[in-house]
Amino acid sequence: MKDAGYSIAVYPGDGTGPEVLREGEKVLAALAEGGPAPWHLTRYPGGGKYYLETGREWEPEAAAAAASADAILLGAVGWPGATLPNGDIAGRALVLGVREELDLYANVRPCKLYPGVRHRISGAYHEVWSPKNVDLVIVRENTEGLYTPAHGRLTRARETEVAVDTRVITRKGSERVIRYAFELARSRGRGAPLDAKLRVTCVDKANVLEGCRFFRETYDRVAAEYPDVERDYAYVDAFTQWLIREPERFDVVVATNMMGDIISDLASVLQGGMGFAAGGNVGESHAMFEPIHGSAPKYAGKNQVNPFATFFAIEQMVRWLGQRHSDARLTGQADRLERALAAVLAGGTARTYDQGGHVSTSAAGDRVVEEIRAGRR
Ligand code: IPM
Ligand code: MG
Repeated sequence: MKDAGYSIAVYPGDGTGPEVLREGEKVLAALAEGGPAPWHLTRYPGGGKYYLETGREWEPEAAAAAASADAILLGAVGWPGATLPNGDIAGRALVLGVREELDLYANVRPCKLYPGVRHRISGAYHEVWSPKNVDLVIVRENTEGLYTPAHGRLTRARETEVAVDTRVITRKGSERVIRYAFELARSRGRGAPLDAKLRVTCVDKANVLEGCRFFRETYDRVAAEYPDVERDYAYVDAFTQWLIREPERFDVVVATNMMGDIISDLASVLQGGMGFAAGGNVGESHAMFEPIHGSAPKYAGKNQVNPFATFFAIEQMVRWLGQRHSDARLTGQADRLERALAAVLAGGTARTYDQGGHVSTSAAGDRVVEEIRAGRR
């Protein structure tokens, strides 16, 4: 427990990032009302737009804060035309850079459909999935795989002839993320909606790729230490259809970096869309939390986007801080926030455009603030 309060470095970033984080800060302030502040926030500019304006992705203080803060909250990065000289996305320092620098090896992406949330397919709202059958977590390896910065081009007479990305799968990188997934299945403790069995599904392409065969071997080795958790295997191509057809079969899913990136966007459709999808980048002693929808430049400044992904990222952050510091105050705050979010969603009074509603980003934030206050009375 920290008396002075936990330090949180906030990187609003680009596009709609600052808008959703403004609502996030309101929600954190509402949770802290009526007592000594359990956290203090410091905001740092940075990202692709900042790069176009200043020639720097962020300032040295911002980079230093990533390593010294108790937790990091990120909005989103990416701005049209903002590219580094080597072709990388400007702002990568804030997301991929922090993941690498702080060794945030597990990207933890819960996918839960709350009552009152609608999901849209092909332009219309459907009730294909129900809150009873969507409650899983994707754990994506976050430091290696196809994202290993081991790539390059072969040019001849100034023409690119070949481009290569090297997919690196290490024993250490696989083992720790797989262990994280098994521990998570135990700590969630509720199993898959279908049968309440604790289950970790290993998603890979082990029928073709050597790295995936190695990942699966490591999975088997770790799984042997968790006899209470059911083993489950899926080739990533087949997994995409099972996820849509029968999401209730899944509890915790573990995958290598790029596959985890792709399947987690797909999974967001089950939970109401990217407007609800949050992720935590977690390492041994640091963590960064973010809505995973990206900067959505075309909506920037319109006060229109859904801030719930940010609220769920905050819930995940507060819970992680509480667990890491064995601080029941914070775990209690995370529970309160989740109750408030669930209540607002169930009431259907904070539907932004993506949910077929007309509620603005800031009005949705206000609704959650009211609900947090009402929950205290
Ligand atoms: C994500 C994003 C990032 C990634 C981008 C913005 C670099 O898609 O967090 O899933 O590819 O990891
Ligand atoms: Mg992604």
